[in-house]
Amino acid sequence: MLREETIRVTPEEMAAQRQFAKEFEALTDRPRTYHIVTYGCQMNAHDSEKLAGMLEDMGLSPAPSREEADFVLHNTCCIRDNAERKALGNVTWLKEIKKERPEMLIGVCGCMVQEPGMAEKILRQYPFVDVAFGTGNIYQLPELLYRAASTRRRTVAVPEEQSTLIEGLPIRRESDFQAYVTIMYGCNNFCSYCIVPYVRGRERSRTPDDILREVECLQKQGVQEIMLLGQNVNSYGNDVPGGLTFPQLLRKVSETGIPRIRFMTSHPKDLSDELIREMAENPVLCRHLHLPVQSGSNRILQAMNRRYTRESYLEKVEKIRKAAPDVGLTTDIIVAFPGETDQDFEDTMDLARMVCYDSAFTFIYSPRTGTRAADMPGRIDPALATERIERLIALQEEMTQKRFAEMIGQTASVLVTGASKRSENQITGKTSRNISVNFEGNAGLVGKIVPVKITAASKTTLKGRIETP
Ligand code: 5AD
Ligand code: SF4
Repeated sequence: MLREETIRVTPEEMAAQRQFAKEFEALTDRPRTYHIVTYGCQMNAHDSEKLAGMLEDMGLSPAPSREEADFVLHNTCCIRDNAERKALGNVTWLKEIKKERPEMLIGVCGCMVQEPGMAEKILRQYPFVDVAFGTGNIYQLPELLYRAASTRRRTVAVPEEQSTLIEGLPIRRESDFQAYVTIMYGCNNFCSYCIVPYVRGRERSRTPDDILREVECLQKQGVQEIMLLGQNVNSYGNDVPGGLTFPQLLRKVSETGIPRIRFMTSHPKDLSDELIREMAENPVLCRHLHLPVQSGSNRILQAMNRRYTRESYLEKVEKIRKAAPDVGLTTDIIVAFPGETDQDFEDTMDLARMVCYDSAFTFIYSPRTGTRAADMPGRIDPALATERIERLIALQEEMTQKRFAEMIGQTASVLVTGASKRSENQITGKTSRNISVNFEGNAGLVGKIVPVKITAASKTTLKGRIETP
């Protein structure tokens, strides 16, 4: 049973960490400010909120800039080679700053550190890094930082087994009105290109009680929108016999009174009729579904180990469109997977045209050491890969324009998220369908949900006019 392998970090261990936090605070030459540089997905962004929560518990406060911070922590991503190179480049850049301020502490954590051999590489090639730890032991940050600061010796902690489930970490949330809530950690799918199962471990679901307690607390604080996070939310609860399914969990979470619920990410093979029904019937669920297709070719889908076909994916899209026509679909697509022929790529283009997504994240395949696809023959020439992705992006732009044009004249409820970067008097927000809208209004509306009439569309955003009731 998978559940039996899951190790819940005990209250005793958490208490020991709090003790380290206190001892750290009592150090006289302790660092006083921190800066976290975050790479990658929402899961990482949320981990950074937990890391910040722990650091503030230890008496540190945010630094105005990375250069001025006493402790700079890089929360890394390794999903593609460029994410990894960017993180390592930025760590190296700090080396010069540390020459001038030797008391500065530098940390590296997150998915990259969890890669086989990476901890050793960091020890060997990055001697100015003081603390390194993996995704499974972020809760040990107080202990690791205390040891590094008190002994000035480098501390590295990477668990071999990624099976921890951690409750009760302090969280310093970035926003007062939008919040991430993790419902499960890890992934069991082993898509052949993907490193996530290796660096984040197997699926572990949080209990409904723990999730609901967190959401109730957010609701009381006035949070308007939560995003439930998991690598594959549709398999929520599979590791807990007799527990809730994901749609049942959604129903319970919406009963807390939170105004808006989003979730990420859904694996198409596990998208159930029950979830489609819940999307159609539950008005608290945002009108957006991210459904990564990765490829439109059955041959490639099989090589990717996605365990659905182009036909079954399109069937599910059809069902959603029928049951909940106002739900916007978005996707992830990988081009130039090993062995991808012109015809395979045309199949992807054709599928993107058929579904007409609101938007798509497009990636060139990047080999990850240790994954099955890394050893597959038929690597695609980089020039051809670039040509393919450019064609796909151009097609998607066309599709986005088509979708946006359909929205002109409609009134959307928009959660105001901030002031527009481009001009004064303009505020910006997100529709339930997860599309950005810019419109005239004052900054006092930030954090509120308001009705906005859509008047025009640009390439990536909508323009609108606030409706007065
Ligand atoms: N190369 C390119 N893209 C990848 N993704 C995951 N692994 C790789 C890889 N090795 C993409 C997938 C996934 C998204 C988060 O990142 O499209 O859905
Ligand atoms: Fe990676 Fe596939 Fe798991 Fe998504 S479902 S995290 S792509 S292995």
